[in-house]
Amino acid sequence: MNELKLLYEGKAKRIYETADEHVLLVQYMDQITALDGLKKEQMASKGALNNQITSLIFEILSDYNVPNHFIKKTSETEQLVKRLHMLPLEVVVRNVAAGSFSKRLGVAEGTPLVRPIIEFYYKNDALHDPIINDDHVVFLDIATDEEIIKIKRRAFEVNEALIRIFESIGIRLVDFKIEFGKDEDGQILLGDEVTPDTCRLWDMDTNERLDKDLYRRDLGDVIPVYKEVLRRLTHIN
Ligand code: C5P
Repeated sequence: MNELKLLYEGKAKRIYETADEHVLLVQYMDQITALDGLKKEQMASKGALNNQITSLIFEILSDYNVPNHFIKKTSETEQLVKRLHMLPLEVVVRNVAAGSFSKRLGVAEGTPLVRPIIEFYYKNDALHDPIINDDHVVFLDIATDEEIIKIKRRAFEVNEALIRIFESIGIRLVDFKIEFGKDEDGQILLGDEVTPDTCRLWDMDTNERLDKDLYRRDLGDVIPVYKEVLRRLTHIN
């Protein structure tokens, strides 16, 4: 593992090259960040929890025929994925008003949205990931008009699948962020992760927050609720 070449270190993951040029190793770190990286902490077992959660979710998404990068979990904190050319785009899908959407548009958190809403953010640290529209995506050469249609269709498919998965374990999927990449053949695949770091998950009965908002808003410890999300996911059939 130590001989592998580190390609990239993000806020919560390290990406290594492997002997196979088409395969990367992703290592989930015990680090949590918020507020554009201003808030940061080491948190024991968070990496293992997120690796296990996203691995289970990607396995289920594969069963739903959502094309994605996941190959297999290789250890508590590591997984192998297909190497993709990642688009510098954060795709946010919302089912219920919350977070920056509520703030920007003055809509109370918890207001159900009549239909899901997609937002694009330009992944650019120096610019602090600004919200952008389809024309900006084309202008910035991130994707073509045809690819934007595909990305939106895929994002809605992921939303439908995730709503069902979480509903089956008593969790309301409020919103989430996903990222896409292109494989060698130019196919657009779901990459990155789906974890309580990247989703807002509310308990259906109690409305308890089961996600990173606990950390962002100083509302409590995330580890017990991430454990609870993993426990429930593990018990799906
Ligand atoms: O903050 P905002 O309301 O725009 O977040 C929408 C969704 O996208 C939330 O589920 C949040 O966890 C996720 N997100 C993320 N990474 C970011 C920004 C938002 O995972 N950089």
